[in-house]
Amino acid sequence: MSNNTLILGLQWGDEGKGKIVDALAEGSEAVCRFQGGHNAGHTLKVDGEQKVLHLVPSGILHPSVHCVLGNGLVLSLPALAKEIQELKESNINFKDRFYVSEDCSLILPTHIAIDQVRDKEEGIGTTGRGIGPAYEDKIARRAVRFGDLKNIEDLKIKLSTLVNYHNQILQNLYNAQPLAFEDVLEELISNIDLYNNYHCKTQDLLKHWVKQGKNILFEGAQGSMLDIDHGTYPYVTSSSTTAGGLSSGLGVGPRHIDSILGITKAYTTRVGEGPFATELFDSNAEQLAKVGHEFGATTGRPRRCGWLDLKALETIVFINSVTNLCITKLDVLDGFEEIQVCIDYDQNQQPVYETFRGWQQDTSDARSFDDLPKAAQDYILFIEETLDCPVGIVSVGPSRDQTIYID
Ligand code: GDP
Ligand code: IMO
Ligand code: MG
Repeated sequence: MSNNTLILGLQWGDEGKGKIVDALAEGSEAVCRFQGGHNAGHTLKVDGEQKVLHLVPSGILHPSVHCVLGNGLVLSLPALAKEIQELKESNINFKDRFYVSEDCSLILPTHIAIDQVRDKEEGIGTTGRGIGPAYEDKIARRAVRFGDLKNIEDLKIKLSTLVNYHNQILQNLYNAQPLAFEDVLEELISNIDLYNNYHCKTQDLLKHWVKQGKNILFEGAQGSMLDIDHGTYPYVTSSSTTAGGLSSGLGVGPRHIDSILGITKAYTTRVGEGPFATELFDSNAEQLAKVGHEFGATTGRPRRCGWLDLKALETIVFINSVTNLCITKLDVLDGFEEIQVCIDYDQNQQPVYETFRGWQQDTSDARSFDDLPKAAQDYILFIEETLDCPVGIVSVGPSRDQTIYID
């Protein structure tokens, strides 16, 4: 019997997905990403050593785990090359276990230029990685895809039309500098080794693995409230970050997902602009940011902080069909006298809070539910009850072993 698990962030990203995927990858044969790009920043900490991954799936530290980038991603070749290079310098092996879908849409330097110049006007607070413009081209059926590197002459024709189009946007709409076609082409050609080494019809590979009964982890990037359809539009990313994105982004039907693990911090953070009902601006916000080291893993921007929003999470749990919850960064709440949780919104859409007594004890060494202070146990049980979903994992620190598994 296979045990394929989808792991998703339930908030605005940075819930600790990377840490949890790495911890669970031990017992699986493959970790596969299905959406997003190098806007993601997933932090792993093992034996005191920290690694931040942007594209490479968070199973890569386990030498026998296969890692896949599915068709649903938008792919920056220089970003991938840099990440692989750095990991190889730490003696991480990619041979015969890393696969990139030929159908990934490529992020070009012109996408990055458009994203950055446009965001100055629109103020979404994007990561500036070209994600939105690259997905636009995919949906408009004019993207250059990873598989197009197979034939350089055909690639040149396709790329020249696209770069010409991008340059018109840059010059005519934003009065910005165009990029030279030769430079864009050179960036692709100089990374041809990535194509030669890793290109794959990943949909066929996944079908084969699923039929073999391999245990697979599907790793979500970003978070559900950044979903293009279900998030806080327009302050969202441009991909389907919720469970629906998995089937389209890897070519694996929903029947092959055995469990869906939804990850939420014990509080809430957000990077970039957009609504955030439970955001705090007082000393509690400062304490969450300071103790939780709330700075973006991709852009280094400070993350906005606030209390947990169970009202919003209840909808998100439904949208994703979450079967189990994982609560991360519980230890960040250790010093608080009181903790608040949003359980509803009033008629003015202001949060209605339930107040909890804090525990003011160090939880970072807890390794079982029973090790946790009674007030922390009550907090977890309240989340479980309100969301009507069992909590299977609690994380009490950034390291792989600072993890509590609850049967
Ligand atoms: P991701 O994008 O969901 O993978 O999350 P990030 O890596 O961007 O951000 C999560 C941050 O919290 C990282 O710095 C992690 O090392 C850290 N982290 C993860 N889980 C815990 C936890 O339980 N406690 C603490 N204190 N830090 C954690
Ligand atoms: P991980 O996988 C947190 C946010 C950006 C911005 C919005 C749109 O580490 O959880 P984009 O560049 O995607 O067009 O930006 O989405 N955003 C993230 N916030 N974690 C992420 O990834 C994010 N990826 C994008 O800050 O508000
Ligand atoms: Mg992150």
